[in-house]
Amino acid sequence: VRYFALIPAAGVGARMEAGSPKQYLPIAGKPMLRHALDAFLASPLIAHTYVVVSADDGVIDTVVPEQGVTVLRCGGATRMESILNGLHAMHGSIAAHDQVLVHDAARPGLTPALIEKLITEVGEHAAGGLLALPVVDTVKRAGQGALSAQTVPRDGLWLAQTPQMFSYGLLHKALSEAPDPQAITDDASAVEALGLAPRLVEGHPRNLKVTLPRDIHTAELYLAHP
Ligand code: C5P
Repeated sequence: VRYFALIPAAGVGARMEAGSPKQYLPIAGKPMLRHALDAFLASPLIAHTYVVVSADDGVIDTVVPEQGVTVLRCGGATRMESILNGLHAMHGSIAAHDQVLVHDAARPGLTPALIEKLITEVGEHAAGGLLALPVVDTVKRAGQGALSAQTVPRDGLWLAQTPQMFSYGLLHKALSEAPDPQAITDDASAVEALGLAPRLVEGHPRNLKVTLPRDIHTAELYLAHP
């Protein structure tokens, strides 16, 4: 079994209120996407890394290192479509039982240690798995407006992170057969829709998703302490 990284980076990052796509925003001295690329390149377990960008991306060539990364210019209208297009482009270089680690460009805090932890703890689990964090806060469900209507028991609740790892064959099947593509916000949910249960592997807060401008500062604090 070989392990491949696939980074969808074809989004526009509308919530970031920045001029350029958020995967290229400078963060701790490097474009955001470069942090995730460097984590995969530094991991001895990863055979090769693929990144999916949109066809008209004019920045990616200045961001990828000279070796170890293949750029696929096949981004789609949604994250799911970008990943499926990427999987199709990888066809021929990968076997059905090889494992694909899908990771969002918007998570620059990934480390080789977290990659190794995911691969080790998912092991041979046929449904794959993902990094995630157990919920520690008390969870409220709002009724009308911002009025707390209910407290949701946090037992068994986790916040999904990436990477999420599945065999190429399973990931391709799950995304192609997704019953409601609009409802698919991560890859594990497509696998769950097949009736399978991916393994939850405890990640780390440093692997946060940079979504809002304020997240940049938090990410930089973690990146300063590797
Ligand atoms: O927008 P959001 O933060 O949910 O995007 C998650 C990841 O999916 C980002 O890395 C983004 O670049 C990627 N994406 C993509 N193609 C799209 C939309 C998002 O590759 N059409």
